[in-house]
Amino acid sequence: MPPIPKSGIYTLVRVISSALNPADYKVMDYPRPIPRIVMGPSPVTPGADFVGRVWQTTHPDLKAGDLCWGKLLTPTKYGTCAEFTLHTGEHGIAKVPDGYLPLTSQGRSLDELAGVGIAGLTALHALKRADLPYNRSKGKETRGGGKLFINGGSGGTGTFAVQMAKAMGCDTVVASCSAANSELVKSLGADEVIDYRSQDVVDSLKQWSKRNGGQQFDAIIDNVGNNADIYWNCHEYLKSSGGIYIGVAVEFSSDTDCALNTFLAPGDCQPGLR
Ligand SMILES: NC(=O)c1ccc[n+]([C@@H]2O[C@H](COP(=O)([O-])OP(=O)(O)OC[C@H]3O[C@@H](n4cnc5c(N)ncnc54)[C@H](OP(=O)(O)O)[C@@H]3O)[C@@H](O)[C@H]2O)c1
Repeated sequence: MPPIPKSGIYTLVRVISSALNPADYKVMDYPRPIPRIVMGPSPVTPGADFVGRVWQTTHPDLKAGDLCWGKLLTPTKYGTCAEFTLHTGEHGIAKVPDGYLPLTSQGRSLDELAGVGIAGLTALHALKRADLPYNRSKGKETRGGGKLFINGGSGGTGTFAVQMAKAMGCDTVVASCSAANSELVKSLGADEVIDYRSQDVVDSLKQWSKRNGGQQFDAIIDNVGNNADIYWNCHEYLKSSGGIYIGVAVEFSSDTDCALNTFLAPGDCQPGLR
């Protein structure tokens, strides 16, 4: 059982379902003694994403017995792959609205909701940062605006970003992925898909702009980070005024960065790449 803090905002959660995220193994992959410094001495339990019942809490929006979901804010030895986990702080946890369960192809399931935490919130943060036209009205969201390119639309963060962008009213979503995932990404709402294996992504974006009468994207969300040319050429397809380029994945291009990263975080060296 995680130790209960003496003060501050915390929620002790009895876990119903947890999901593994790449962050869970990446921290464990770091050379010693980094995992121990980050997570504390053994034994450690991985896991950050969860759905569960509030057991005990000082959170202003929660009470014991509430069904809740979210993600732990930092890696901890009391991860979510256990019967109990401890969430600290106000953010990254919320009550599951009464009567709500996510709709999946198999029906509605709390297991699916457990997988939303880190990847879903990453996508949401990127979209909020993108500040597409639907976010710009005062107080209310206006539907039907914004053109967005998502590099890496078929992965953990990309699949959430495509769905959220369309649900928020984004007019056009173009996403890159491999041909094998093209139908999946379209089924999630993407209007056009670029197969990065058979097409040059930069050329395809330039062509998209030409084909659409010189229109440009309001935002680009880069979940891959392997091709700096997408950024360096973006004046050809990203609005020069108000256009925003959001790097969710980091490119480690210099030798120093790469060497440092190979040592410190081998699993992170080529983010998003397979
Ligand atoms: N997952 C998270 O919760 C999370 C949170 C914060 C930050 N991040 C960071 O976000 C990035 C993406 O994470 P993820 O979990 O979404 O990764 P992922 O599930 O592995 O997805 C990677 C995406 O990149 C595409 N891709 C792979 N190689 C490519 C290439 N050479 N050119 C263009 N596209 C390529 C993949 O397409 P195909 O699969 O169709 O080949 C897929 O759409 C990583 O840098 C990660 O560290 C992730």
